[in-house]
This record gives sequence, C-alpha cells and structure tokens, in this order.
Amino acid sequence: MIARTPPHLLGIAGMTQAEIVDLLDLAEGYVDVNRAPVKTSDLLTGRTVINLFFESSTRTRTSFELAGKRLGADVINMEVDWSAIKKGETLIDTAMTLNAMHPDVLIVRAPDSGAAKLLSEKVNCSVVNAGDGSHEHPTQALLDALTIRRRTGRLAGLRVAICGDIAHSRVARSNIHLLRTLGADVRVIAPPTLLPSGIETLGVTPFVDMRAGLEACDIVMMLRLQTERMRGSYVPSIREYFRFYGLDYAKLASAKPDALIMHPGPMNRGVEIDSEVADDIDRSVIREQVEMGVAVRMGVLDALTRPVLEGAA
Ligand code: NCD
Repeated sequence: MIARTPPHLLGIAGMTQAEIVDLLDLAEGYVDVNRAPVKTSDLLTGRTVINLFFESSTRTRTSFELAGKRLGADVINMEVDWSAIKKGETLIDTAMTLNAMHPDVLIVRAPDSGAAKLLSEKVNCSVVNAGDGSHEHPTQALLDALTIRRRTGRLAGLRVAICGDIAHSRVARSNIHLLRTLGADVRVIAPPTLLPSGIETLGVTPFVDMRAGLEACDIVMMLRLQTERMRGSYVPSIREYFRFYGLDYAKLASAKPDALIMHPGPMNRGVEIDSEVADDIDRSVIREQVEMGVAVRMGVLDALTRPVLEGAA
C-alpha cells in the first residue's frame, strides 16, 4: 500500500481500487515514452534509487534500473548473497548503511516474507517491495493488470485463472489482491500440494483439475514451480506435472478461444508451459508483460517521489 511520509509500495493488499487505477493510469502514460526514440526525462534528476537485491533477478532488476535511468535518477545496483548473511540483523545493517547515503527510493527483493516492510520501518526513504519471499510482488501485479487492461479494455468481470505453484508464489498473491479489488473473477488451479488451505478466503475459487478451472477463462496466467522455496517434494515428477498442469493447446481449449496467455518469467518450457503455447504470437502476451514492467516501474517511481503538498491528506 502506498502510505504517506515517506510513501512506500509494500504490497497490493490494502490498496484501494482508486489507488491501483491511479498507478495504472500513470504507468500507461509511460508506455509511449518507452517507445519513443529518446526515452529519458529529467523528472528524477538529482534523485537516487538503490536496487537492493538479496535474490537473483533479471527482468525485475533491469526494469527498475531502466525505469530509474529513463526518469533521470542515479541508479545503484547492489546484489547481496542472502545465504552469506545473518538474516534480519544484516538486512537492517545494510539498510541503515544505505540510508546514511540519503537515497530517495530503496527497491528491495529478499527471500523472506516481510523483509521490505521491516526495512521500510528503519529507513527515511521510500521502499518498494520487488518481491519478499512468497508474500507479495506488487509491481508484477500492476504490470500484469496494465497488460490485461490494454488488451481487453477492462479488468472488472474478466475470468482469470492463475495456475501452478500458488503456495510459493508472491506473484499469485499480489495478483489475487489486485484482480479481486478491481472486480475480476479469479480462479486458482494447482495440485492439492501446491494449493494453500484457506485460499478461498482471498475471494478466489480453487481448482485441482486444470480443464475444469480453465473453463471459459479470459486470461490464463501460468506460474513457475518455485523449487527454491520448497522444502521436500511437492510434485511426483516434472513429466507428471506437465501432463496434468502444463499449459498445452489441449488444456487451453477449455478457455475462451481468444484467452490471453501470461507468465511473469522466468519460464520453464516443458514444465508449466509448452514452448509453442508460450510463443504463440496471437495468444501469448509474455513479452508485452516485460515491456509494461518498465512503464509500471516508471509510474511507481514517479508516484513515490512526488512532493507531498503542505496540508494535503
Ligand atoms: C517472479 C518472482 O521473482 O517472483 N519473477 C519475476 O519477478 N519476474 C516469478 C518467479 O520467479 O517465478
């Protein structure tokens, strides 16, 4: 939620419909900027953005970096090996050290749920959660929503299926909050081992049968098996998993004929998605999601660095 003084983006849970739509509208304006030959502005000249990543990342880190640079900010990247540090203590130490350098925005990704929030309580600058454990990944949900909105013109009333490793996915959680707040009908499809009990309390309908779950869906969102967060074995074998939960044309036939295919990346072809389906130029919007990622992150940096007017709420 974007809360004042300083504003942060820690998760989608708690954000209002108006707050989400405002961010999407702001990001929408940056799509054309990113398509123009000259993409830079001086909006954030003199501002400092620090990318603090305790987990490896390609698209999220580079798109935050590009977003900051296109807005004219100084952007520093820090990649820290989580396994080599003493968790909470080092997280706060690192944050306090960075805080002393007066950054304006700290973008943080960490394997522990709640890391971004903890950090936001210790520093004086804005914090953006770029993924905390299996908790939230708000900019991913925003970029997914922008991709869907641009393709279909709306989010309300759409039937969206989120499929795969729901249990370990911060992308699933942020998307569920966002899509429900904007009035979409959300289904989650997973093997029983990867379907958290009580998920219905988030306002979604769970399915263990993929064809039944995909029935008449407008959007099919696939997720990676997050093996790095698994303790023990959750699926019998990759072959078996693909047979029942991998998106291929046979299963996709249950969805609407023009249903869009999405994936946050990185994709495991032949595990959760068939290669041909992933590359289907008529149905797959996976590359567009990456493009919208930069626009959304520019919108978020813009929103977080706006001066708060004296006396404004
Ligand atoms: C996701 C993440 O890191 O949570 N990826 C991303 O941000 N593009 C999903 C994943 O890692 O599977």
